[in-house]
Amino acid sequence: MQFRSTLHQFIPVLIGFICLSLLACSTSGESINRNPVVLKDTFQEKFVMGTALNAWQITGRDTSSIQIAKEHFSGIVAENIMKSGRIQPREGEFNFDLADQFVEFGEENNMQIHGHTLIWHSQAPRWFFTDEEGNEVSPELLTERMRKHIYTVVGRYKGRVHSWDVVNEAILDDGSYRKSKFHQILGKDFIKLAFQFAHEADPDAELYYNDFSMSQAGKREGVVKMVKELQEEGIRIDGIGMQGHISLEHPEIEAFEKSMLAFSDLGVQVMVTELDLSVLPSPWRNREAGANISDNADYEDRMNPYKDGLPDSVSQAFDKRYLEFFELFLKHQDKVSRVTLWGVNDSNSWKNNWPVRGRKDYPLLFDRENKAKPIVEKLINLAKQ
Ligand code: XIL
Repeated sequence: MQFRSTLHQFIPVLIGFICLSLLACSTSGESINRNPVVLKDTFQEKFVMGTALNAWQITGRDTSSIQIAKEHFSGIVAENIMKSGRIQPREGEFNFDLADQFVEFGEENNMQIHGHTLIWHSQAPRWFFTDEEGNEVSPELLTERMRKHIYTVVGRYKGRVHSWDVVNEAILDDGSYRKSKFHQILGKDFIKLAFQFAHEADPDAELYYNDFSMSQAGKREGVVKMVKELQEEGIRIDGIGMQGHISLEHPEIEAFEKSMLAFSDLGVQVMVTELDLSVLPSPWRNREAGANISDNADYEDRMNPYKDGLPDSVSQAFDKRYLEFFELFLKHQDKVSRVTLWGVNDSNSWKNNWPVRGRKDYPLLFDRENKAKPIVEKLINLAKQ
């Protein structure tokens, strides 16, 4: 009898417990559904999903972005701190503090570490091209400086950095060589030399050429020609990076695909290395904005239309465009080895300040609070199909 009455008292408690457990399951189920799987897991069979890290993230000060980087991305690149002006600001004075932390972070989190960039006309220190008397350097001295820079940087991370953007942005949209200091002083041979030095410094590292506006016909042809020449001369080149600073209008997806295929036909890997999707008006109406950082336009209020948030119609266009590009990347997943977003969240994006300073853009997959935008789940579902 006593046992039965205890049982009676116990039944409501038991029911309460079951209800609470069901409730807990359904809420956690809901949160799982809201963010079902992380990007890198869904894409891991297809290609590496990368992100670019800035100094605040590398030093761990921006903890919430670092959390997103660890959770969603399997590859990293440094947005600025490995560029020549940062890593060798004065001749022979290498500043490896941040680069060391960046590489350690990648190793601790088992990420594919990519180095950006060895030889680039932009964000290069002036001393590189000037001799002791203040004159332009001779071809011999420039070659020697390139060798020392590449040997020191690549050599330091030998066996730890998976791949390097050896040369960045050496070809113009019409396919001719950019008249950079490197080109003026050494002619197109500077490209060959850079690849040779990088290979000597770390024979196991993968070596890439990287550029923007790669879907332009002229640039496509110029890059194909240059890579063929390197290959004919027996120079190691493993891949071509298509930066992918796109907008809602440019480039045409078919042109992008054409370049992916043309590059892949050379027998090298194709990568999308700096993906972001600007929703803001371009100061140059009928052409692709590209990513030439010396092209700037003045701020005007009408060029900054979404200060208080994105209208639904623009968010929809944004999602549609990202989905179209990822459909393309997935279609050619046998050719594409990595897709890297140029930043973790909208507040870090360089697009807020280029080509016009002080605007509010929305180009990435995570918002200013590091919340996954709806596009993240859409991309995950797309990859699962
Ligand atoms: C950009 C960075 O995102 C900015 O922070 C910096 O002020 C300028 O450079 N092509 C490249 C990248 O290869 O290195 C550039 O990064 C964007 C264009």
